[in-house]
Amino acid sequence: MSRIAYVNGRYVPLRDASVNVEDRGYQFADGVYEVCEIRDGRIVDMPRHLARLKRSLGELRIAAPMAPAALEAIIREVIRRNRITYGIVYLQITRGVARRDHAFPTTPVKPAVVVTARSLNFARSEDNAANGIAVVTTPENRWARVDIKSVSLLPNVLAKQAARERGAYEAWFVDRDGVVTEGASSNAWIVTRDGRVVTRPADHSILSGITRTVLFNVLEALQLKLEERPFTLDDVRNAAEAFVTSATQIVMPVVRVDDGQVGDGKVGPVARRLREEFHRFAHFS
Ligand code: PDD
Repeated sequence: MSRIAYVNGRYVPLRDASVNVEDRGYQFADGVYEVCEIRDGRIVDMPRHLARLKRSLGELRIAAPMAPAALEAIIREVIRRNRITYGIVYLQITRGVARRDHAFPTTPVKPAVVVTARSLNFARSEDNAANGIAVVTTPENRWARVDIKSVSLLPNVLAKQAARERGAYEAWFVDRDGVVTEGASSNAWIVTRDGRVVTRPADHSILSGITRTVLFNVLEALQLKLEERPFTLDDVRNAAEAFVTSATQIVMPVVRVDDGQVGDGKVGPVARRLREEFHRFAHFS
C-alpha cells in the first residue's frame, strides 16, 4: 500500500508529494512542526500538541493556516488513509512560498501545510525499552529559542549522527556549566539514588515536551517526588537511573552515558514503571 501525504489541500501518494522550491521551509527552515504518537489507531495528547503548535506559530509570527478543528480533521484523515494503528503523525507548517528574501514576504502568503504518518514497529520499541539505550554527550550549540518547535534542526541532526556513529541512540546537549539541557529529539531525566525524579525546568533552553508534561501527572499519581532543576553530568554519574521522554519514545530508559554506565547499567524500576503507566494518564482522541 502506498503511503498518502497531505500537501497544501490535497491528499497525494507520498512518492508524488512535493513542495515548491521557494517554500521558506525548504530555503530557511522557516517553519514549525509537531509529532504525535498514534496508539490503537488513536492520537495521543493531540490537544496539547495543537496548543504547542499554536504557540510556536505565534512566536515566529506565522499565521495559523486554518482552525484547529480543520487541522485535526486532516490529521485524522491522513492516519485513516495510511491505516496506522501504531506509529506517528507528522505535521509541518512553514511560512509559505515567496521569492527568496530573508525578511518576511511583504505581501501575505499562505502558510504551507504538510501532514504525513507512518507505522512504527511496536515490538521493536518495546525491545529497545526493555534493554535501555546508550546516550552520548555533545556541547550545546543551538540557538537560544529551542522552546519553539521549529524545523531548524541542524545541530540536532549532527548530534544524532554523532550518537549513531558511536553506537548510541540519543545525544544529550551539555552547556558550558556541565548542565544537561535536553536530547537531540527528547527531554532528559535522571532518578537520584534516593528516588527523586529530576528534569530541567522548561525555560527557553529546552522544548517543553508534551510527554514531559504528562509525566508530571504520572509522577504525582504514583507519589514519586519530582524535582524540576538543572542537572549536571556529575549528577548523571551519581544517578540511579536515567531516561528520555518524547512522543516517539514515551519513556525510554538510558543505561549508558558516554563511557559510563548509569546506576547498575540496567533498566531501572522507576523508568520501567513510568513507561508502563504513561498511557493511563495520556489523552486519547
Ligand atoms: N521530538 N526536545 C526535543 C529537542 C525534541 O525534538 C522533542 C520531540 C522533545 C520531546 O517533546 P514531546 O514529548 O512533545 O515529543 C524534546 C520529536 C518527537 C521529533 O522531533 O521527532
